[in-house]
Amino acid sequence: MAEVGFFATAFTGSGMLDIDSQHYEILSLADELHRAMTSGNTQSMMGSFLERLQTCLEHHFDTEEQLMAMHAYVGAGRHTLEHLSARETIRRLRKSFAGGSLPIAFDTMQFLRDWLKPHMLGVDREFIEFVLSNSATVVVRRPRRPPVTPAADADRCAAASDSA
Ligand SMILES: [Fe+2]
Ligand SMILES: [Fe+2]
Repeated sequence: MAEVGFFATAFTGSGMLDIDSQHYEILSLADELHRAMTSGNTQSMMGSFLERLQTCLEHHFDTEEQLMAMHAYVGAGRHTLEHLSARETIRRLRKSFAGGSLPIAFDTMQFLRDWLKPHMLGVDREFIEFVLSNSATVVVRRPRRPPVTPAADADRCAAASDSA
């Protein structure tokens, strides 16, 4: 079974399976970066890592925004603005990496720690609770933590991207 790291350990399911699964995948990616930074081995992985992170985030934000529209969620505007900020940040990080910026791993970790985690525990929770309390059609069950590996993450994100 894959190691459960610092970010994914803090994961608590909200009860909406698709969103929980995507959150867990993103937190597992954060752990992958954390492990690489701990071992001092980020330069060789940052290019592909940022690409996978962007693919996962874009797909995840699209999923949430479609759900918010489907359920006429009143907080959709504010929530989508937060996604827009993150979409711009990951694009900027990839551009900085392509330009040879050295502290890119630290900047990426700061983004994951300071933006992503509070977002998941804040506005994401509010929106999920709204959807669950206003819909009889959403399939609700507590997810088990899947055994996630970096390779499995990449496959899932790629599959999500291909089917989008
Ligand atoms: Fe989310
Ligand atoms: Fe969100």
